[in-house]
Amino acid sequence: MVNQIKTSLIGLGRMGAEPSKRLESSVPSGWLPISHLETIIKNKNCLLEGICDLNKKRLNEISKIYGIKNIYTDYKQMLSIENPKFVSIATRTNEKKEIIFNSLDNGAEIIYVEKPLASSLVETKKILEYVDNKKAILGYGVNRRYHKSYREVKKIVDSGEFGNLEQIVIEHGYSNLLWSHPHSIDLILFFSGTHQIENITAKCNFRSDCKLTDELFIDDDPLVEFAKINLRNGISAIISKGRGLNTRLYLQKAIITIYSDAYKVEIRKINKSGYLDNPYFLDFNAIKSCTENIFENMINCYLNKEKLMISNKEILTNAVVRSGIVFSSLNNSKKIEINQIPDNLKISGFNGFAYA
Ligand SMILES: NC(=O)c1ccc[n+]([C@@H]2O[C@H](COP(=O)([O-])OP(=O)(O)OC[C@H]3O[C@@H](n4cnc5c(N)ncnc54)[C@H](O)[C@@H]3O)[C@@H](O)[C@H]2O)c1
Repeated sequence: MVNQIKTSLIGLGRMGAEPSKRLESSVPSGWLPISHLETIIKNKNCLLEGICDLNKKRLNEISKIYGIKNIYTDYKQMLSIENPKFVSIATRTNEKKEIIFNSLDNGAEIIYVEKPLASSLVETKKILEYVDNKKAILGYGVNRRYHKSYREVKKIVDSGEFGNLEQIVIEHGYSNLLWSHPHSIDLILFFSGTHQIENITAKCNFRSDCKLTDELFIDDDPLVEFAKINLRNGISAIISKGRGLNTRLYLQKAIITIYSDAYKVEIRKINKSGYLDNPYFLDFNAIKSCTENIFENMINCYLNKEKLMISNKEILTNAVVRSGIVFSSLNNSKKIEINQIPDNLKISGFNGFAYA
């Protein structure tokens, strides 16, 4: 075992610290533990040194459940006392940039942060530049690409057994852009194997009182009707309103469907008449969770043993596509070329109750 890496957690809400018990009978294998805290505790290379939340009641509650003594309401104080090498961040989006900058300035070398990273391209670029300059490792909370079943399906797609991948359809329901679709967009980038986007056509529905300001700010987390994204490698992708949390991969010789967050993976070959053969199902026996996989991967990357499962370019492209979806929608669902998307378009992620 390597020397344990001092790890601190900021934000003890649902993603940060809600015990897995809440989801035990409702999610497929490979999802639990999902909270940052349980994942840190389970990882033998992490030494938990400090948890922090502005909300004292929540802090005390979590400290009691997990028997953690070094607790803080001020994350800057925690950073200066504990000096973590690894900082895990599960606050809402507005706070993330400042926390990342302060963590890196305090000597952190590994950051895990929930999606979305920021609410505009300008901010996203600033964060990624800062991370790059510090040569830090950045993990990003787009869970599915770290799940064993999604990764095994990607190997099948890339093997060429079923010909080329032609289209990707993501069915994550009629849901909010910043809250849900960083996941959809990430799956598109993951399976297409590229971060090079050609153009985007999309329609969103905005809250009735939300208007774009002259500064290109919109105080909303719009609901996405549809988005069509053309990638430079010829693959196209659709974010549909379809429900079920499914990912459909249309290849030349088969359709592969990952149902309901990898509850089932189905393959249907296309026969000579163009019809679908009977389905067969694959089970990849995902024992470790997505969050465990990315934490292990970040540490292995830190130890120069593995390549990171996600690149900063993919994180940036995710933000480009989100802005492109809103910009197309604001322009009557016109097809938007990638270089037309304004960097300063800011989408707050406010759904009328809370921020993403
Ligand atoms: N990966 C996923 O599947 C997934 C799912 C849901 C939410 N998310 C994302 O995770 C993030 C957190 O979501 P959540 O539902 O856990 O939110 P939450 O509101 O339940 O928790 C956020 C916590 O951060 C604390 N906080 C805020 N500012 C702080 C600061 N400066 N210092 C210390 N603590 C601070 C709050 O008090 C709160 O307890 C959001 O950005 C959300 O979009 C990701």
